[in-house]
Amino acid sequence: MFSRLQPVATDPILGLMAAYKEDPNPLKVDLGVGVYKDEAGHTAVLECVKKAEKLRLDLEDSKTYIGMAGDLSFNAHIEKLAFGPHKVLLEGRTTTAHTPGGTGALRVAAEFIKKANPDATIWVTSPTWANHISMFQAAGLKVKEYAYYDYDTKGLKEDAMFADLATVPAGDVVLVHACCHNPSGMDLNFAQWQKFTALAKERGFTPLVDMAYQGFGLGLDEDTQGLRYLANEVEELILCTSCSKNFGLYRERIGAVSVVVDSNKMLETARTNLLAVVRSIYSMPPAHGAIIVSHILDSAELTALWHQELAVMRNRINDYRQLIIDKLQAEGVQQDFSFITKQHGMFSFLGINKEQIERLRKEFSIYMVGSSRVSIAGLNHSNIDYFAKAVATVLK
Ligand code: LMR
Repeated sequence: MFSRLQPVATDPILGLMAAYKEDPNPLKVDLGVGVYKDEAGHTAVLECVKKAEKLRLDLEDSKTYIGMAGDLSFNAHIEKLAFGPHKVLLEGRTTTAHTPGGTGALRVAAEFIKKANPDATIWVTSPTWANHISMFQAAGLKVKEYAYYDYDTKGLKEDAMFADLATVPAGDVVLVHACCHNPSGMDLNFAQWQKFTALAKERGFTPLVDMAYQGFGLGLDEDTQGLRYLANEVEELILCTSCSKNFGLYRERIGAVSVVVDSNKMLETARTNLLAVVRSIYSMPPAHGAIIVSHILDSAELTALWHQELAVMRNRINDYRQLIIDKLQAEGVQQDFSFITKQHGMFSFLGINKEQIERLRKEFSIYMVGSSRVSIAGLNHSNIDYFAKAVATVLK
């Protein structure tokens, strides 16, 4: 039977991560996977996580199963972090399950959508995170794209986006990135969130908000502005969150899926369906990462430390957004890269072509995704000049 299988192309992002690891060039630069690196090029464990892990070792008194919804204290914290003091929480209209990573949250969401409407199409931004489309298709959902990023103006294709969204039928789902759009860094402004929300109400589609980078854009609360407005207005939505980036808990695989329903009468139905999906895929999530996050958010001191550490990561990336522009200018590059400071989060498209990307990799061991998406956190004071010179060389 296995002989019927054909080899499958490696995932474009994770394949790049492996290729970078194997490259012996000491000057190599990793701008591929969306993983934060500090000035030393290291993805360190956050101090608040270290402290919470110590606490966990002391306090943990059982390894019994955690239950399908995962850690309930974590779920409550994540809801508060995302929605703040919001009516969807006060009215008891939200149910959350902690999941193995943001990807796990998205897959649970996809299966939940399929249970609710097996004919649903899920609409994703063009372009979107490389794994969105394949994952939703693997879950058996139809996927369509709506206009989003304009490669010419390096902004949003606003008119085309709203024209596409105005054709989405009731019963379909529209995925929207809460902040730090992956891969473009180009986010909706508040007026655009309002327009998106009006269309969701008018057309009757269900929003699926993917928030993998809360705190990496403008700030923890600022990054939820669109989500909170949307949740205030629409009757139902799904939210997928991740603690990979903002808590630096990548390998612990910790995320959450929250379903907001139109009245608390529907809550039990949503909750039991969500848990049935969880049970059918992985039964229960791993506990470790969620309890670390809970310990941090239970403690005012650890929360303050986390806020500080998150701000350091966010500010470093934002500083490098400007530095890329300055350094490329200093290398005599004529093209306009000012769009980079208008974008947020880990990524921007450099806007260079395939051949230039290939040269950067072959001649300079500089790794970025084939779309020219760069993970800005891979730059530091030791490699920014090397990077700018290399980009200037391939642009000549
Ligand atoms: C990325 O986009 O680089 C990250 O979200 C990591 C991943 O799993 O692709």
